[in-house]
Order: sequence, then C-alpha cells, then structure tokens
Amino acid sequence: MALPYEVHRFLEGFSLGRDAASDDMVFNEGPDGPDRSRTRVDHLEVKGLKVPRFVNEFWTSRQRQASSIHEISYRACFKPQLPAFFIDLLTEKGDVVYDPFSGRGTTAIEAGLKGRNVIANDINPLSRLMSYPRFFVPKLPELEERLGTIPFKERGRAGMDLSMFYDGRTISELESLREHLAQRKREGTEDELDRWIRMVATNRLTGHSKGFFSVYTLPPNQAVTQQSQRKINVKRGQVPEYRDVRKLIMKKTRDLTKDMGPLECRGLRRVGEKGLFLDLDARRTSPIPDGSVRLIVTSPPFLDIVQYGTDNWLRCWFNSIDMKEVSSRLTMLKDLDDWTGFMRECFIEFFRVVAPGGHVAFEVGEVRKGSLRLDEHIVPIGSDAGFEPLAVVVNQQEFTKTSNIWGVNNMKRGTNTNRIVLFKKP
Ligand SMILES: C[S@@+](CC[C@H](N)C(=O)[O-])C[C@H]1O[C@@H](n2cnc3c(N)ncnc32)[C@H](O)[C@@H]1O
Repeated sequence: MALPYEVHRFLEGFSLGRDAASDDMVFNEGPDGPDRSRTRVDHLEVKGLKVPRFVNEFWTSRQRQASSIHEISYRACFKPQLPAFFIDLLTEKGDVVYDPFSGRGTTAIEAGLKGRNVIANDINPLSRLMSYPRFFVPKLPELEERLGTIPFKERGRAGMDLSMFYDGRTISELESLREHLAQRKREGTEDELDRWIRMVATNRLTGHSKGFFSVYTLPPNQAVTQQSQRKINVKRGQVPEYRDVRKLIMKKTRDLTKDMGPLECRGLRRVGEKGLFLDLDARRTSPIPDGSVRLIVTSPPFLDIVQYGTDNWLRCWFNSIDMKEVSSRLTMLKDLDDWTGFMRECFIEFFRVVAPGGHVAFEVGEVRKGSLRLDEHIVPIGSDAGFEPLAVVVNQQEFTKTSNIWGVNNMKRGTNTNRIVLFKKP
C-alpha cells in the first residue's frame, strides 16, 4: 500500500470481521461498503500540520491469536497484534522491518514469522539476549540432552543472599547454570542451545506461579528488592520451596514452542541468520545502512514510568550484566523537553535508515493519565526530520480481564488504547 490516500481509505473503511471464526480483518468496499466500518475520523492539528486521526478496534488479542513464541515478559512490551497490523499493511515478504527500541523483540519476532527481514536494536543488553535466541527454536530432545550434561553442584553459592526468593537447592542449580553459561561464553563455545537455555532461565527467575524458580513474587519483569521480598514472604506466610530448574526450562520451552511447526521454525531461522541485532543508542546506529529499512514499528522509552534497571536486577545478576552501567545508558527522561530533544535526534537517524516510500509506526502512550498527549509532540518532530505525518491510528479495545493481586481475583473492565503516529518518508 504505497500511496497515502490508499492507507487513509483502508483505515477509514476498516472493520474487524465479527462473523468469521478467526475475527479476521475486513476492508469494506463495494455495496456493503464503508458504512459497515466503525472507524471514527477527525483531525489532529498541531503547529500548522493537519493529520487525520482514525479511531477503531483495528486489532484485538482475540483476532488471530499471536504465536506462543512471543510469550516472554518484558516491561512495557506491546502486543504482537500491533506490529502485525502495520507489517501486513505496509510491507511485503523480504522487506526489512526495524525496531530501534526492541525490548523483548515483539516487532522482530512478528516480522520474522511473516517472512520479513529484521533489524532489532535496544540499548539494554537483556533485549538481544531475549529476542535473538527465539529465532533458533531447538528440538526438544536435543535441549533435554544438553540440559542433562550441565553439571549441577550440590552446594553452589550465589555470591549474594537470594534465600528470600529461592530454596537452597534451587540456588545451587541456578548458580551452576549461571557459571556454566558464563564459561561457555568466555571460551567462545556458546551455541544456540546455550543461548536458548539462558533466555528461558532468565525469564523463569521470578514470577507468581510454580512455573518460576522463585517463591510467589511480582511478575517476572519487575523483580523486587531483597527486603521487599522478605516482607511479601511474611505477609503471605510463605517459604521458598525447591524448584527443578531443568524441568521448568523444558516446560517453558514446550509452552513457547507449541505453535511452532517445522515450517515456522525454518522460516524464523532463515530470518534470524540474516538479521541484525544491535545494542546501541537508537540515535547512533551506524551499522544500519542508509535507506535500508522499509518499516519501523516501535514504542520508545516513555516518560518517567518505567525503571528498566531496578526491575531487572535479578536478570542482570544471572547474566553477569552490570546493572548500574546499563541503567546509566538507558534513556529515562522525566522532563518533556528532554524527551522531545531525545526523540528529535532519534527521528533524524530514522530518516537516514528508512528507504524513500518507507514508513514509521511510532507508538506513543497516554502519559500522566492522558494529560500529556505525546502524539501532538511527535508529529512536528517527525515532520521536521523530513517525514510526512500520514495518520494517527488509535486502536481502542474493550476488555474484561481477571486480575489477580495478592491472591484476590477481580474482574476488571476497561478500554485498552494504543495510539500510533504513522509517518511516510517521501
Ligand atoms: C517501551 S520499551 C519497548 C518495548 C517493545 N516494544 C516490546 O514489545 O518489548 C522501550 C525500550 O527502549 C529501550 N531504550 C531506552 N533507551 C534507549 C536508547 N537510548 N536507545 C535504544 N533503546 C533504548 C529500553 O531498554 C526499552 O527496552
């Protein structure tokens, strides 16, 4: 879909098919035409720029259930349906799709599953460690055999007190695994099975079910401090019990790969082998050639809401990553002027790497309870960098979900909104 008016017509005439079992997307043209569409259209006017805004339920989590291979938790990640929508709309097989703030790699994995080539970048080294291995899905018997060869010591020590999270034997197993993987890396013998094991183990470190190595704690992407965990244990009257590290790695692998048939595995591998996985500042990505990218789909670091460093201290420990050093490099801006200044530099770099006719789909959250509308700030920034602001796409999805907070179930209703500014490079 190359021309702006084609994209506009598509968004305007769009409705999610309700009758089809798959809840697939439908574009209503012809006799039943755009009237069936529920897209609301208005305009965003900012600094002399007038950009059409399309509001609809463009994607839902029910529609085309995302592949199981995505199911890795990461703070502030988006649902795979978001990049899927723009990848389908704006690229062909073989095109390069890039995410400069890649996180758990949602865009890269989704693009890979759709046969696009990928570039993923994130300044947090945990990001590469969690996305790259999933392009190389292991065969279960090979993984099991490899896990069996890793020597687990009887009494391994973690170098710090982790007894509020794990039982003693679990600590020994984790420390043995950690040492083993570190040694393979040092010796240059680390292979794709090692990287897979590292990725899965990193994701099983803490969480709130028996599928994790730890006793009940916050979700896996928000490790609490040792003191806070002690308090949680007292409040819940709980003591960490033994968790079999090998077994849980196998279990999570089975869950992650349940939708991955031989075709999907081969496809992802092909894309992974050609892909570019970087851990640079998004403002300076010199390994990416000029004009090589067809589509950027991304969500940037938001204003002041997420502490990637402190959330990830246990993940950093397991992977021998210096958390303080990483935190100091991560962009975490509390001030809107600093944030827009940072984004200005990013957009200059995006303009360099995107091909003429290519697009940027840039998710801006509703920050500070909707009082700060970042789309209004991003439109002029993209425009100053040379992009044409094509549309603001607002996905509104009603949801009812069960939330479980400290063991209490609540049914919560609400609206989930994603706001994406879409740009085109002329
Ligand atoms: C909102 S998250 C992206 C989540 C991603 N869409 C996903 O689905 O997982 C923003 C990411 O920006 C990264 N980041 C922060 N500052 C950065 C910078 N200067 N350059 C590149 N990445 C950065 C953070 O590490 C974080 O992973």
